[in-house]
Amino acid sequence: MYEFSIDTGSKADLYRDLLSALDALTATEADPVANMANAAALIWEYLPALNWAGFYRLVEGELVLGPFQGKVACIRIALGKGVCGTAASSLQTQLVADVHAFSGHIACDAASASELVVPIVRDGRLVAVLDLDSAEIGRFDAEDAAGCEALAGVLANRI
Ligand code: SME
Repeated sequence: MYEFSIDTGSKADLYRDLLSALDALTATEADPVANMANAAALIWEYLPALNWAGFYRLVEGELVLGPFQGKVACIRIALGKGVCGTAASSLQTQLVADVHAFSGHIACDAASASELVVPIVRDGRLVAVLDLDSAEIGRFDAEDAAGCEALAGVLANRI
């Protein structure tokens, strides 16, 4: 059994402890699916107010659904399409306060209201994106983006 000490007192504490838990959880495992699956479970358990957390991987030029927590989701997303495809093609984190105002947003779950998508890049190339959805408008802020970019940095060499 894994036991993590995650301080949820502030976002800074939460992301610091999540980063250290993710690092410990994935440090000695080389299997990408196992590491993405545990990362999705860790994020889902400790980040509040999510309705989806998981990965889309770059496979033969398109994004393909990877390990996740939440409702069944769309399987393939073209680069440049939706929030995930935009993050993937631009290699830039997408912080979307209101998905209904994002032209081309792909609604996998009608309840989703805000979204954070962070590209995972290894040696300058996209490997996957980390996608978090929330049913709350404006759920994610710059601290979430920075925290999730740090998580993505740990995963870049482990997936
Ligand atoms: N909303 C995403 C699609 C993936 S789901 O949120 C899980 C998008 O617009 O790319």
